[in-house]
Amino acid sequence: MAEIVIRNTNERITGDDNVREFLNNQNVLYEKWDASKLPLELQTNFQLNDEQKKQILDTYDEEIRDLAARRGYKIWDVITLSDATPNLEDLLNKFEEVHTHTEDEIRAIVGGKGIFVIKGAGDIGYFNVELEAGDVISVPENTNHFFTLMDNRKIIAVRLFIEENGWVAHPVQDPSFQS
Ligand SMILES: [Fe+2]
Repeated sequence: MAEIVIRNTNERITGDDNVREFLNNQNVLYEKWDASKLPLELQTNFQLNDEQKKQILDTYDEEIRDLAARRGYKIWDVITLSDATPNLEDLLNKFEEVHTHTEDEIRAIVGGKGIFVIKGAGDIGYFNVELEAGDVISVPENTNHFFTLMDNRKIIAVRLFIEENGWVAHPVQDPSFQS
């Protein structure tokens, strides 16, 4: 279950109803997949080969096609990050820059953990969405955000795209963001 931390106040929002209400008010899509559908050995393997990635996509084929039908995604893949990822530090440094996309950024977490940092509407400022296996989130298009790992530094996620080049990151210099 995702949890929210509002960065300006350190307020933590927990509990299914509260998290859903908060994200809904911020126009952030939040849904759940059944994390237990995926065999544990795949949920905890952060060096997946192509065959294992295909197995993950097959496991969630119904959920993926449902999202695609509702929201127009045409391509999808599996990404994994961990200390076994070459140049993980460089990648994280690149990820941890506030940016936007012209497409929404949707991720279904199927193993490990991660955080999206998103700029909220009005006075809320930036908030963290801490995600674990089963959480599905979509950062709306043209919304300041970035992604990073949590302390365990491990994640497996399904990504869906409408078109490949809609997902190019546009860096944003935002003086209101404090890391
Ligand atoms: Fe992004």
